[in-house]
Amino acid sequence: MHKALLIGCGDHGANTLLPAALAAGIRVTALVDADIEAAALVADKYAIPRAFPDVAKLDLTGYEAVLLALPVGEQARFARWALENKLATFIEKPPAPDLAGLRELIDLAAAASVPPAVGMNFRWAQGVLELEAAIASGEYGQITYTRVEHFARKPIAPFTPGDTLEASLFHAHGIHAIDLARFLTPGTDRISGQMIEVERGLHCVLTGEDGAGRRLEAHFGSNAASFQHQVRVVTTTGDMLVLDDLTELRHRPGGADQHVKQYPGDRVLWRRGSIKGGHGAAGYEPELAAFNALVEGHDQPRLATLESLLPAYEAYDTLLTLRGLTWTA
Ligand SMILES: NC(=O)c1ccc[n+]([C@@H]2O[C@H](COP(=O)([O-])OP(=O)(O)OC[C@H]3O[C@@H](n4cnc5c(N)ncnc54)[C@H](O)[C@@H]3O)[C@@H](O)[C@H]2O)c1
Repeated sequence: MHKALLIGCGDHGANTLLPAALAAGIRVTALVDADIEAAALVADKYAIPRAFPDVAKLDLTGYEAVLLALPVGEQARFARWALENKLATFIEKPPAPDLAGLRELIDLAAAASVPPAVGMNFRWAQGVLELEAAIASGEYGQITYTRVEHFARKPIAPFTPGDTLEASLFHAHGIHAIDLARFLTPGTDRISGQMIEVERGLHCVLTGEDGAGRRLEAHFGSNAASFQHQVRVVTTTGDMLVLDDLTELRHRPGGADQHVKQYPGDRVLWRRGSIKGGHGAAGYEPELAAFNALVEGHDQPRLATLESLLPAYEAYDTLLTLRGLTWTA
């Protein structure tokens, strides 16, 4: 790839996206952040030649791509700017504040030569790839039920004035949980669910089914004491595969397993090594390497596009409507 720039050098942009992008071989040569002092410090730390307080001061000659890690409301605005300037765009999730905003962005991006990619790192996490490889081996049948749990300790107030807390819950966690559940179990469109009342934060359950015996559940919330993640699938053979906190994948054999009498317990299929973790294990670096390859002209069907996120936005929009809730206050 030719030169790339990063807009948004806050917590995620500076501490995760930038090191992961550099490790993935993306030539980030300029940073932009309204907080120019913070951007200059980050530029210094990673030896990035330039830092700017806004894009108006930037000469885009030679720039081919942009990475966006901005507050929710600013993401779509800068995505528009990037599309107008014909830059290949990687937008951290969420690309738009609501379903209508995503649809607008999809229409705008229709003419882009490189489709904008969205940062959905859980699709690329090593444990998720291991789970998919186990299913692809054919040993455990096909996935018939997926449950993704994604809990953290925020938000407890809306990220953006005017948004509801429910919208911010989707922006922070729901988008990840629903997208990953749908990625593993596509086509489950009959949506239902509930916001479960708890003392602190929000706890949401969203379900989907396809009418042919397949089901997904996305459980997500901001009520946990710390980050917790689990993926559990049940397969047509009655086996279960459980991925805990992206670190350990276990097989819970079905009753028909030929070794079940001698060994009915869990079998560990994969465990993350202590020396290999960080940005690779959580999916950031492989995802950005795929974006790099996309810009260089290689198709990357695993990369989230704006269109591929429509089902997650539509599912949450359905749940909000069913429950008399809204994206904006
Ligand atoms: N995929 C993930 O795992 C993951 C994790 C965390 C955050 N994110 C996403 O990354 C994005 C950024 O999150 P964060 O935690 O870094 O937020 P943050 O508030 O720490 O950083 C945002 C930065 O954007 C800058 N900014 C705001 N408006 C600007 C403008 N108009 N022009 C230039 N700079 C501007 C701010 O000065 C700040 O430095 C969010 O959209 C969030 O959803 C993704």
